[in-house]
Amino acid sequence: MAQPDFSPSAERNKQPILEVLLQCLPAQGTALEIASGTGQHVEWFAAQLPQWTWQPTEVHRGALYNIEVRVAQAGLDNVLDAMQLDVRTEPWFAQAAAPPTFDLIFCANMLHIAPWEACTALMRGAAQHLDANGKLVTYGPYFETGVPPSQGNVEFDQSLREHDPSWGIRLREDVEQVAAQAGLRLAARHTMPSNNLLLVWAREP
Ligand SMILES: C[S@@+](CC[C@H](N)C(=O)[O-])C[C@H]1O[C@@H](n2cnc3c(N)ncnc32)[C@H](O)[C@@H]1O
Repeated sequence: MAQPDFSPSAERNKQPILEVLLQCLPAQGTALEIASGTGQHVEWFAAQLPQWTWQPTEVHRGALYNIEVRVAQAGLDNVLDAMQLDVRTEPWFAQAAAPPTFDLIFCANMLHIAPWEACTALMRGAAQHLDANGKLVTYGPYFETGVPPSQGNVEFDQSLREHDPSWGIRLREDVEQVAAQAGLRLAARHTMPSNNLLLVWAREP
């Protein structure tokens, strides 16, 4: 079996993210991961949270095999087959007899590496597929009004926009606005290493 792709940043941030998840998640549940990338997050979280069932997804079909190799090598039985999912193709589970709901929807490092429509679609999809008490967790770099940005994030944002003008680090308040339009509110904000934030979103009461 070929070695799966590897992301050094996912390797660094998986444990800090897990520590926050452990604070805010119940002991068991079902999780949908959006933009699973290399699958390192789902591998780590599924191994550390064995009472949870995980559904990894990726927009790029080629990445699905990579995720499955990683999960198989780890011998995890609480991870479902990776499925192709583009957040902008709605509804997300068009083939399902009934739309599935999840206790957690987790999405790391997608909002700045996708057009803004991916953010609005993520919020709409999460609102549709979160259980009543479910949480959407987004992780990555954000700008915030009144918070001086780090030089690293300013340079990262510039390089993203040079690569693709529709990409870029999002303003947290803009994300909150589209979340509110979808019926979600920001329930918690966690500062994370390397100038990242972990944001927890819940249904409006
Ligand atoms: C920087 S990678 C992050 C991967 C992983 N979540 C992590 O943190 O290591 C960005 C991911 O967003 C995914 N992505 C981009 N546009 C997307 C879309 N419209 N729907 C779902 N995923 C998307 C890419 O395929 C890629 O896996």
